[in-house]
Amino acid sequence: MLDKIGVIGGGFIGGVLVQEIAQRRLAREVGMCDPAPMPNPADPEERQAVVRKQSVAIGKCLDIAEGLPVMARDVRVVGSKDYSALAGAEMVINTAGVPRKARPDGTFPSREELLAINLKVTIEVAKGIAEHCPEAMIISIANPLDAIVFTLDKRLSPPKKRLMGMAGVLDSARYRAFVAEAAKVSVENVNAIVLGGHGDDMVPVRSSCLIAGVPVAKFLDAATLEKIESRTRKAGGEVVGLLGFGSAFVSPAWSALEMAEAVIFDKRKIMPVCAKLEGEYGVDGLFCGVPAIVGRNGVEQIVELDLTDEEQAAFAKSAAGVAKTCEEADAMLADL
Ligand code: APR
Repeated sequence: MLDKIGVIGGGFIGGVLVQEIAQRRLAREVGMCDPAPMPNPADPEERQAVVRKQSVAIGKCLDIAEGLPVMARDVRVVGSKDYSALAGAEMVINTAGVPRKARPDGTFPSREELLAINLKVTIEVAKGIAEHCPEAMIISIANPLDAIVFTLDKRLSPPKKRLMGMAGVLDSARYRAFVAEAAKVSVENVNAIVLGGHGDDMVPVRSSCLIAGVPVAKFLDAATLEKIESRTRKAGGEVVGLLGFGSAFVSPAWSALEMAEAVIFDKRKIMPVCAKLEGEYGVDGLFCGVPAIVGRNGVEQIVELDLTDEEQAAFAKSAAGVAKTCEEADAMLADL
């Protein structure tokens, strides 16, 4: 159990994180920060004054804290509109960002506009971490994942073991869920790893997908596996399309907590994480999804798989995509 975990962003994922941290007794205290709702300067002053008193983070934390006696959990849950709720956290989980949703006039922000907005949010997040919990282990979930982790690294320069992005655990869980469903076996029997960037060219690694230790190809034919791998690459969008109000929030929160538990209980568990590569997989100086041993220090060691030539080429393509996004983010950061 840690003394304190900070959760940045009190939206859908942030809410599940705080509930689960308390339920699983992962920390004695959880602090959640979120500036929302923010007053609109165009509104009359009385309306702005009302909004200034509201707080999604304080409200959510109060709701959870008031339920904890029922759940028999002695965890202190605190919220704040600024970053003060992070004070003293040994671990922070970052979910802060603005999703891609329609403006009041019905138009959508472009990918670049959204990236610029979320980079600005991440600069604020980095300042909050630097001020209130500079030594914290950082697990970042916010999208675009690769660019946000890159920005946190640029702004905070933490030891590379201490900064991880969560994407691979979720992408692999999706792959495992689809394989288990098709093979009609328990999800517990399916082991799989998805590598690379958190985008459409992520790499579900068929050669490392096993059902009870047996290669998946013994259970499912190539055409079925291709369909599963393609669905895995687009699984985030599938949920977005169905929900209509945002993106997946339970599975990302659980996946980040899988990483958090590996650290808190020093499990040295091998899982795919977005980690800084320094030559591994032929990539240098980039954060990319790779299997790693995760333990008390964070990314204890990157594990290099024997990929097939095809998988290695797919990984290189995915890494090139991540490099391009990071270059774009770097250019934008210079102007922010
Ligand atoms: N500091 C802290 N929180 C912020 C900031 C900031 N500077 N800017 C925005 N936020 C908050 C928003 O107010 C919002 O409450 O981040 C929260 C994000 O919550 P949601 O919009 O509900 O999004 P959620 O579904 O939780 O996803 C969070 O994780 O998987 C990714 O794509 C997803 O990037 C998104 C993130």
